[in-house]
Amino acid sequence: MSTTEDIIGRADVNDLEAILGVTNTDVNELVHHVKDNADCIFTWDYEKGRRPALNKLYEKAKTSQWTGQTDLPWATDVDQEAVVIANAEANGMLAGGVDLGGTVFEKWDEKQWLELGIESQNWMLSQFMHGEQGALVCTAKIVETVPWIDAKYYASTQVMDEARHVEVFAKYLDTKLSGHYPINAHLRMLLDDIIQDSRWDMTYLGMQIMVEGLALAAFGFMHQMTTEPLLKKLLRYVMADEARHVAFGVLSLKEFYDGLTAAELRERQEFAFEAALRMRDRMLQQEVWEQMGVEPREALQATLQAPERQMFQSMLFSKIVPNCKKLGLLDASDGWLRDRFTEIGVIQFEDWVDTGAEYEALDEVAKDREAGALAS
Ligand SMILES: [Fe+2]
Ligand SMILES: [Fe+2]
Repeated sequence: MSTTEDIIGRADVNDLEAILGVTNTDVNELVHHVKDNADCIFTWDYEKGRRPALNKLYEKAKTSQWTGQTDLPWATDVDQEAVVIANAEANGMLAGGVDLGGTVFEKWDEKQWLELGIESQNWMLSQFMHGEQGALVCTAKIVETVPWIDAKYYASTQVMDEARHVEVFAKYLDTKLSGHYPINAHLRMLLDDIIQDSRWDMTYLGMQIMVEGLALAAFGFMHQMTTEPLLKKLLRYVMADEARHVAFGVLSLKEFYDGLTAAELRERQEFAFEAALRMRDRMLQQEVWEQMGVEPREALQATLQAPERQMFQSMLFSKIVPNCKKLGLLDASDGWLRDRFTEIGVIQFEDWVDTGAEYEALDEVAKDREAGALAS
């Protein structure tokens, strides 16, 4: 049994000094090597449909593919400043509800707030792109390591989905926004941990349940907020895919976790908690504050208390918590993970809808195709 310090390297989950002490040291590296430590598993049991839910997901995935180059309106003219202003008006997320008197922001003018909005968008989309590459790599690993043929089949479709996601986020950043950011150090630590783990189910837990569960919530939030039509459609299609990916995690792990011992489940709970904190830490976007010439500690002390900011932070867990519950991870080991999620203020989502079947309702690609709005 590990302590919080064993799991994430600090005893207090809210220790801002320790969180900000984790920074990227090699931002100019062009490639990044990680040992993936896994056995590749062949199966000689080719019976298709032995796992009907995975088989159904695989058949669905094949008919819901789309093409990044031609199915999105790339000719849309994107005025990033106008988008940022519209977003700020729609939700006032950054400074709303907080008295900034006496803080570093006291003398900020409109131009600085606008610049912050632009940098935040560049940063957010960059992290989405890096996360998508993480998903591409993890899912390719799952094709090799999962022992079930239905899961290998399904994972192969997800590899294609993720390639498309990396491609469209990269293209959006290059052609519509105004700068890239390197991968955030907390996100990279998490992706490294997921890839390094030798156990095949840990790739699923880290990627499909935690990273993609958060992505689904974050994309949904951004999709709802943005009025920019290209980004809106891009997110709508990416979310349709992500809903299948999270379902893939839930359906596969449900079967596997039912056969684990209490000690093995506890290891999964601890891994889920680590992943949750790494993702929460990365959302502090410390690189953006540095770019703006503001000391991240001061910026965060001033803005973290904003009610909108806290709501956004916790909403990111609205898919993760019910999925962890469905997998039995909240209540194993005397409710250890339930206590941790209570501590970080996200347990209220436990009875929200889980993502085992939500993908059918979210299949926007199929809806557009049926309506004749998409080439078949
Ligand atoms: Fe993706
Ligand atoms: Fe995904």
